Amino acid sequence: MAKLMVLTLLGLAMTHFKNHQSSYQKRLTAFREVEPVDLPNCNLVKGIETGSEDLEILPNGLALISSGLKYPGIKSFDPDKPGKILLMDLNEEDPEVLELRISGSKFNMSSFNPHGISTFTDEDNTVYLLVVNHPDAKSTVELFKFQKEEKSLLHLKTIRHELLTSLNDIVAVGPEHFYATNDHYFVDPCLRSWEVYLGLSWSYVVYYSPNEVKVVVDGFDFANGINISPDGKYVYISELLAHKIHVYEKHANWTLTSLKGTSGLGATPMA
Ligand SMILES: *[C@@H]1O[C@H](CO)[C@@H](O)[C@H](O)[C@H]1NC(C)=O
Ligand SMILES: *[C@@H]1O[C@H](CO)[C@@H](O)[C@H](O)[C@H]1NC(C)=O
Repeated sequence: MAKLMVLTLLGLAMTHFKNHQSSYQKRLTAFREVEPVDLPNCNLVKGIETGSEDLEILPNGLALISSGLKYPGIKSFDPDKPGKILLMDLNEEDPEVLELRISGSKFNMSSFNPHGISTFTDEDNTVYLLVVNHPDAKSTVELFKFQKEEKSLLHLKTIRHELLTSLNDIVAVGPEHFYATNDHYFVDPCLRSWEVYLGLSWSYVVYYSPNEVKVVVDGFDFANGINISPDGKYVYISELLAHKIHVYEKHANWTLTSLKGTSGLGATPMA
């Protein structure tokens, strides 16, 4: 409520500044001219026409891809169909794309809208896939077991929390245990645009476990991609509109302390 009040006052004040033009769309597209570049080693992959939002490559060379995201302000390539998780075997010479079948009685496939994804492999070599989902414009984290032989995902659980309202990307540190970026404070589309337009930087990163959920870093204009170093010691967070990659040290109590924030060379890594 206090934040809503602050936003209203700031909004009233800002309407007097004609030149404050760093609107959501303008900052996202960032007035850059992109020269066409010939990329000889890039091939169009058949079967990912609905977009490849996030990608995770397992040590065995299997790649999992989330596709078909519907997100406010971003073009959807197939607005009438649910999203999907695709599988590619990168060991193959000419890998095909296959849609993973999803099973589990409680999962509503028709509202599946996958965004950031992350995997966690336990001591028994069970691979869990954690997926940021936006069913009906809300935010949840879906926990699946990846069944390699059956080429399917078994839905185990839906995770919701009051701090996980506008999720973007996720990095798993256990099956039910993760860090996630919350890209806006508000959920309402109008308040969200004001939040970014005014540069309030109320986007944050949450640590989630069944016993404890907390904001570990805040003050981002738009926290987007998140990842962890292979040794599990450092967490990387991309701040979309500031064009920065932040590096944090991860502690035993799961808090993060800032080591470095680097401005990208015009790059804006997305989830
Ligand atoms: C599943 O999602 C669709 C699309 O959002 C919705 O219309 C339907 O009511 C949902 N079904 C259940 C059982 O929640
Ligand atoms: C977490 O661990 C770090 C590093 O040991 C320490 O500086 C910090 O005070 C701890 N925070 C909490 C809330 O326990």
